Amino acid sequence: MRRLTIALALAGLGVAAPAVAADDGATVFKRCAACHLGDGAGVPGAFPPLKANAQSLAATAAGRRYMALAVIRGLSGPITVGGKAFRSTMPAQAGLNDAQVAAVLNHVVRGTAARAFTPKEIAGYRAGGAALNSAAVARLRPGK
Ligand code: HEC
Repeated sequence: MRRLTIALALAGLGVAAPAVAADDGATVFKRCAACHLGDGAGVPGAFPPLKANAQSLAATAAGRRYMALAVIRGLSGPITVGGKAFRSTMPAQAGLNDAQVAAVLNHVVRGTAARAFTPKEIAGYRAGGAALNSAAVARLRPGK
């Protein structure tokens, strides 16, 4: 009986492993929504919309790298999004691991035909972009 109780307790811990909840893209997106709003529509002149360009950005390797590094390294334009100039700064979203960055970007591109981001893919961008500052990330944006 005691053994069964321990087994059940361990199984319970497994279900409640912290990574499961933290990797949920909608949960991570709450911190993005402070600026980009809950639906990702953004605020004209201040925070660019995420949804409108997500599919085209995520369609190329360069665009996928740019999206990931905007989150990991931060972003400081000028950039042009939907024909509008943005000259603001997005702080690096510190504390997100590769799985969480993948999850939140998958939340951004949900409902589009974009290929899913994987933690392994994010790890590659993170390693390759370690020396980039937020202005250098802005220059990576394809389709000016
Ligand atoms: C403190 C405000 C703030 C937060 C929080 C924030 N962003 Fe941003 N984000 C910005 C700003 C400002 C820009 C545009 C920067 C510029 O003007 O150069 C931007 C740009 C972007 C872009 C580039 C869009 C494009 O079309 O080029 C992406 C992608 C992005 N953010 C994703 C995210 C994600 C995902 C999160 C959450 C993990 C997030 N942002 C959190 C302010 C924020």
